[in-house]
Amino acid sequence: MPAPATLATLENQRQLGLYYTPDQLSEIICAWAVRTSRDQILEPSFGGCVFLRHISKALVGRGARKPERNVFGCDVEKAAFFHLAASFDEGFPEENFFKRDFLRLRREDFRNIMFDALVGNPPYVSYHNMNAAQRRAVRSLKDLEIKLQGRASLWAYFVAHSLHFLKHGGRMGWILPGSLVHTDYGVDLLTNLAKIFRQVTAIKLQQRCFGHVGTDESTVMLLCEDRSSFNESGKADIVDVKGVGECAALVGRLTGGIDRGLRIVPSDIDSEIANAYDEIRSTPGVRRLGELAGVKIGVVTGANKFFLVSQSKAKGLGLPKEALLPFLCRFYQAKGLFLKESDLNEMLLEDDACLFVDTRECEYDHRVQKYLKAFDTVARESNETFKKNEKWHQPPMGTIPDAFLSYMHHTGPRLVSNEANVYCTNSVHRVYFKPRISALHRLALAISVVSTIGQFSAEIEGRSYGSGVLKIEPSEAKQILVVAPPQADLGKLRAQAREIDALLRVGQAVKARCLADSCVYNLVPAIARRISQTRLRELLIILRNRRTSKLKLVVRKDDASRV
Ligand SMILES: C[S@@+](CC[C@H](N)C(=O)[O-])C[C@H]1O[C@@H](n2cnc3c(N)ncnc32)[C@H](O)[C@@H]1O
Repeated sequence: MPAPATLATLENQRQLGLYYTPDQLSEIICAWAVRTSRDQILEPSFGGCVFLRHISKALVGRGARKPERNVFGCDVEKAAFFHLAASFDEGFPEENFFKRDFLRLRREDFRNIMFDALVGNPPYVSYHNMNAAQRRAVRSLKDLEIKLQGRASLWAYFVAHSLHFLKHGGRMGWILPGSLVHTDYGVDLLTNLAKIFRQVTAIKLQQRCFGHVGTDESTVMLLCEDRSSFNESGKADIVDVKGVGECAALVGRLTGGIDRGLRIVPSDIDSEIANAYDEIRSTPGVRRLGELAGVKIGVVTGANKFFLVSQSKAKGLGLPKEALLPFLCRFYQAKGLFLKESDLNEMLLEDDACLFVDTRECEYDHRVQKYLKAFDTVARESNETFKKNEKWHQPPMGTIPDAFLSYMHHTGPRLVSNEANVYCTNSVHRVYFKPRISALHRLALAISVVSTIGQFSAEIEGRSYGSGVLKIEPSEAKQILVVAPPQADLGKLRAQAREIDALLRVGQAVKARCLADSCVYNLVPAIARRISQTRLRELLIILRNRRTSKLKLVVRKDDASRV
């Protein structure tokens, strides 16, 4: 087991992404990366030295007598150099190791060596959490072969910068967070790597590998093989495995001459899911939600607990009526397919905190002033959201949305028409239909999202969060499959939508979904020729069960082609 980073403080741990890799994962990567006794290998953020030890072991296994000569490394942390001294009995060549920011190193620093492989587990620091020096370092990287999208995390810059040091035919093996396959910048990076390596394989581990250091971050092992070669398919393979054992077996199949070029074959059920998804999305009449509507997060107040009050609290504070704007604060308050005035009245009766203290019309009213003054001054001055507003208590409101979409859900998302004409907080997404979207299409979209097709695509596009909740970011929501036929019987659709709404309100979600399925299959009959309602429901259940038991196994190929 790697030595813990006992010399680092907790603050350091967060800022430098100091989470050392489990021994076995590092061993798998090093055994794969080191091919001959002469290979020179670089670990750009070696930390507890677990990779360095396994590189040495793999070199010895290939016949090297003085493996430490071929091991190179870098780390910013003092603790890493204590680990280094303890890891090599024979000592280590000082000129091979740098206590520097890797992103500032150039080929000349490593005597222009082009490495046979780079391996490691770079710091997982989100763009949001980067400190000023880290931001300056990523901004200084002007000559990256792969350009990264603006808000990429630090680890992505490590991977991209590493390409400067890798020789033709070389390999890279990384332990990365799930954001490699879940974020736009991650998928973009993966897609670009697939263009410059013969084989790129991202192995998603269902097992949480960093639980021992108190993080629930999911793990992806990224293996890039044969730099600068033509990749026939131009695609990365994304494969799910249960745990470290299955991962080792899989990488074992990739290693060595005979299996070079072997494509990993997903299990039958995963292929069926991937095929069903492709079949449905290529059916004429089936569209992405984002083609017909924009999806944005709700109003960001910066302090929902302060700005949203209940009716009784507002009364107690004597806040004037003009300062109180009804809001949808929690998605569960929208129970069906429509949010009606009667739903708002119910929230008020229940004394839910659903009134936003809106100061735009009555900022100078003494009761409003008194309430604003109650906000702690220190907290106010350090609140990042407030800093972005012209007046700290007036968040940008935008226009009232046409509909709402759930952000996190135990089952699946729902699109709710905003008949009550209210805003919502950022725990709910706002949906704005594109101009000229007919009443028929609006209904068809709401019905589609609760149908099995909508729910199935949401499982594939969204991500599992916390204890298995399905989390759907706006960009993912736009990928949800919906039906939008050119014409249909509007009156009939309205009646069906009302029936679905009524079923949802009494908790009959499965019946509501089955009714939505018949509507969707009637609106676009061609779907039935591609997949039956029954089989699609079975596949949805498989996906949901995997998510709730954290066993998501979908193989998603060619993410770059997503709209
Ligand atoms: C996730 S830990 C991984 C350590 C080691 N690679 C492992 O797998 O156990 C990330 C490491 O990156 C180092 N680090 C953070 N920022 C760095 C930078 N800019 N340059 C080099 N190393 C850095 C940290 O000190 C830490 O040791």
